[in-house]
Amino acid sequence: MPSHARTTQVAIIGAGPAGLLLGALLGREGIHHVVVEKHSAAHVLARVRAGILEPATVALMRELGAGERLAREGLPHEGLFLSVAGQRHHIDLQALAGRHVTVYGQTELTRDLMAQREAAGWPTVYEAGDVSLAGLADKPCIRFGEAGRPVELQADWVAGCDGFHGVSRASIPPEKLQTFERSYPFGWLGVLADTPPVAAELVYAQHDRGFALCSMRSPTRSRCYVQIAQGDSIEDWPDNRFWDELASRLDPASAAALRPAPALEKSIAPLRSFVAEPMRWGRLLLAGDAAHIVPPTGAKGLNLAASDARQLAGALIEHYRERSDAGLDSYSERALRGVWRAERFSWWMTRLLHRFPEELAFEQRLQRAELDQLLASRAAQTLLAENYVGLRG
Ligand code: FAD
Ligand code: PHB
Repeated sequence: MPSHARTTQVAIIGAGPAGLLLGALLGREGIHHVVVEKHSAAHVLARVRAGILEPATVALMRELGAGERLAREGLPHEGLFLSVAGQRHHIDLQALAGRHVTVYGQTELTRDLMAQREAAGWPTVYEAGDVSLAGLADKPCIRFGEAGRPVELQADWVAGCDGFHGVSRASIPPEKLQTFERSYPFGWLGVLADTPPVAAELVYAQHDRGFALCSMRSPTRSRCYVQIAQGDSIEDWPDNRFWDELASRLDPASAAALRPAPALEKSIAPLRSFVAEPMRWGRLLLAGDAAHIVPPTGAKGLNLAASDARQLAGALIEHYRERSDAGLDSYSERALRGVWRAERFSWWMTRLLHRFPEELAFEQRLQRAELDQLLASRAAQTLLAENYVGLRG
């Protein structure tokens, strides 16, 4: 017999952005929930990932009462640069789409939500061992180890917010899921360093040597990426090789502003497009990377996780407050509409800006022609801008 039997209304698996935002949305409505995370809080906070928030994500943090530091420290960006074959072009997001994005690290957003949970006394289990899900068709039960002791948590609903490699999606019988996938034959090597950004806004670079991106976390801290070959490891990329390669892919003005500095963190991210349908099975509801992955080129992953969390919270609140399951029944269909739009945009940005190793000269000329059209057409730039700041509706 388990030494600890507990109950809750909603068990949330995973303390990434999807799980923490969902928890905050439920918590402020007085809906009992427990977040079960397999790693320590420190480990979650050490994973350097996203950096760009859409206006809707910023608004969500504000509504939750967790947006104070974000309002103070987030950097509003009204545009971005495209560096194409050595020439820098400005895309004015504010003029084209009427909105701007905000630079604020995923780690900071996570830190703010974790602090709010702690202050509110909402239960979180970190370092949960061997998390497993049972009874998902009608009577969910989550089993895990807490400080070496087995726990059984009974819940009305389970929110699977445990990322691409989590246990939630894997608990759905394979014949109940349809998956759609595209992997890309390269990865991104990311470096975080205390060095000023090369420009006031992000620089996305297309170059014959491959894609590069100069992003930032603050006026004194940069986050930069270069496209690398599949199979390359961190050891293949000492700091000086990284900075030299980055400089070689940038336009002259950006390259001249680059001040190499020791890497504070260096990591490799594979690029993948993935969607699992539907996002619900019985009493398990998936949200965020547990259900879908986009390549990071369009800066959409965290924002999609936030959008899922908002929709799922709305459906659960309707269930408890109004005794209606209409929102839960349509959650997957509604969420997937936005997911596929973000999938399309992220795939398109990735195709447009990367060097595909097996590609024929014909495809390379097409890519160049599309870039030329984008840089010449306000209509094409408007479409990019509307997608980048987040489509409404
Ligand atoms: P995760 O952040 O993966 O959180 C899942 C949590 O579940 C983790 O804490 C994990 O430890 C936990 N977990 C896993 N398995 C279990 C288990 N069995 N039991 C309990 N807990 C478990 N997105 C953007 O919007 N903008 C960007 O600029 C951007 N840039 C990116 C750059 C890079 C290099 C990368 C890699 C990603 C980027 N993303 C970006 C994507 C973004 O980081 C993810 O989409 C986001 O983290 C998804 O949040 P999530 O909560 O769904 O999943
Ligand atoms: C980041 O700052 O880490 C970042 C920004 C934009 C992207 C991807 C990552 O498209």
